[in-house]
Amino acid sequence: MSTPIAKSPPPSPATAATSPAFRIRRARRGDAEALTSLLKELGFPEGSDTQTVHWVTSHPEIEIFVACDPQDRPVGMLSLSHRPQLRLRGRIATVDELVVTEAWRRRGVGRALLLHAIERARVLSVKRLELASRREASQETARFFTACGFVEDCLVFRHEGLEARRP
Ligand SMILES: CC(C)(COP(=O)(O)OP(=O)(O)OC[C@H]1O[C@@H](n2cnc3c(N)ncnc32)[C@H](O)[C@@H]1OP(=O)(O)O)[C@@H](O)C(=O)NCCC(=O)NCCS
Repeated sequence: MSTPIAKSPPPSPATAATSPAFRIRRARRGDAEALTSLLKELGFPEGSDTQTVHWVTSHPEIEIFVACDPQDRPVGMLSLSHRPQLRLRGRIATVDELVVTEAWRRRGVGRALLLHAIERARVLSVKRLELASRREASQETARFFTACGFVEDCLVFRHEGLEARRP
């Protein structure tokens, strides 16, 4: 699955006028290094590892989308997981990770990734789409989520006993 995006960054000699600035596609195993680098920017210094990337990319209820530059290098990523839920009598989906590399921010990449996930959620007949944001997330991040149609809802509690450490 691949979605060419029309919105271009400011014109530069390196960007052909006719080619899209970035496109969205499903992540593949070969993206492991790029995903690790993006996760580091998200605040997880150890990123991921090849085995976990293979596990996640082949999982039937997880989808990872990457936004790629014209050289097909990932400049942003979003992971979406979904599962059936009793109370909804249907499927719930969660945006688990979302990050755009710093040099590409404010060019519409984050919004395009979220819109892609929302469209995918529609196709899957998802009844609720959520994402958890850290309490210390910046006002800018909150503005981004609001601009993309999300509203603040419940509080997330995590159990400390199951985590070796948290970045
Ligand atoms: C949050 C993040 C994914 C946004 O990605 P992005 O590609 O820069 O966002 P977009 O360019 O698509 O922005 C869409 C809209 O969100 C709002 N927005 C985005 N960044 C904003 C900022 N820093 N300040 C205010 N509004 C902002 C704007 O309304 C923007 O539309 P506009 O540029 O036309 O005004 C990116 O900043 C990022 O990776 N941050 C670090 C990681 C993170 O916080 N992830 C989310 C928590 S899991």
